[in-house]
Amino acid sequence: MKERIEELVKEIEAFNISCPDELEQFRLKYLSKKGEVSVLFEGFRNVPPEAKRETGQLLNNLKQLATDKYNAEKERLSMAETVSTTTDLTMPAYPFGEGTRHPISIIRNEIIDIFSRIGFTVSEGPEIEDDNHVFSMLNFAADHPARDMQDTFFIEKKSGTESDPHDVLLRTHTSSVQVRVMENTQPPIRTICPGRVFRNEAVSARAHCIFHQVEGLYVAENVSFADLKQALLYFAAELFGKDVKIRLRPSFFPFTEPSAEMDINCNICEGKGCNVCKGTGWLELLGCGMVDPNVLEACGIDSVKYSGYAFGLGIERAAMLKYGVNDLRLYFENDIRFLYQFRTEIL
Ligand code: DAH
Repeated sequence: MKERIEELVKEIEAFNISCPDELEQFRLKYLSKKGEVSVLFEGFRNVPPEAKRETGQLLNNLKQLATDKYNAEKERLSMAETVSTTTDLTMPAYPFGEGTRHPISIIRNEIIDIFSRIGFTVSEGPEIEDDNHVFSMLNFAADHPARDMQDTFFIEKKSGTESDPHDVLLRTHTSSVQVRVMENTQPPIRTICPGRVFRNEAVSARAHCIFHQVEGLYVAENVSFADLKQALLYFAAELFGKDVKIRLRPSFFPFTEPSAEMDINCNICEGKGCNVCKGTGWLELLGCGMVDPNVLEACGIDSVKYSGYAFGLGIERAAMLKYGVNDLRLYFENDIRFLYQFRTEIL
């Protein structure tokens, strides 16, 4: 029997399988019930007891060899089946569009990156808000025009035209997130809040009913207007290049006192005056100011011990200034001829 086993080992090793038919022949010849291996197992009964151990082992090895070969060849043939013989694997693949980041995402990420380098965290809040967080706690007077249906999308109004802190609405600015942060955290607070905002406006080249803002908030002991100015200068230089000039104009927001608007120098006419900057040489970028003590107190922060600054800017606006885009609607149309122009940006 030992010789027969050795013969079969050689035979099995040499057996050439190149198609499913040959695989089946192999199985029938060696592994089926009446196959060579089974025949030998049957003959095992007649092996003298002193040779049983060695022969048994050889027989088992033989069976394993045949089974392994069968399985390996079966797998190889099934893989070969999926790659048809007419496929040229060396041919270059079809090109496909890689896609690009949307310019709004690029600028948002860049702004987050710039402020995170000076210790600002990122906070988020709900898009569906109540009057309290969007207006009342931010010191808006009850008759402020922003609380009007003309400007705000209301979801649930508690009483006719009267404003009510429980009115449910789409937030009109991300300043609501600074309220939520201050309600829940004690200073020092240093955070930016990027997000979508909604305003009841007719869509045009210069206005849209949905856009994006980034709110910034810094509250700690002894925060001054000089700190605000320095942070904004750093920000503008990082976003627009180190030669950028900024200017602060006095302004008014209910939630800051004093308040200002920040302009950057017009990079199209280099300050000489053109139709983009309406001849002024300056482009408005953001609103800012020192957080009004009423706002701090409404959020449970001691306004004697702490002071803070805040700022808010439109991401579309920043992207318009940076990339020279002149129509807001382009950001929402998803025309790939527009979007592809940002494909070199890696952020
Ligand atoms: N919330 C203002 C807006 O939507 C922008 C703004 C101005 C935010 C001044 C601020 C700020 O935090 O201090 O127009």
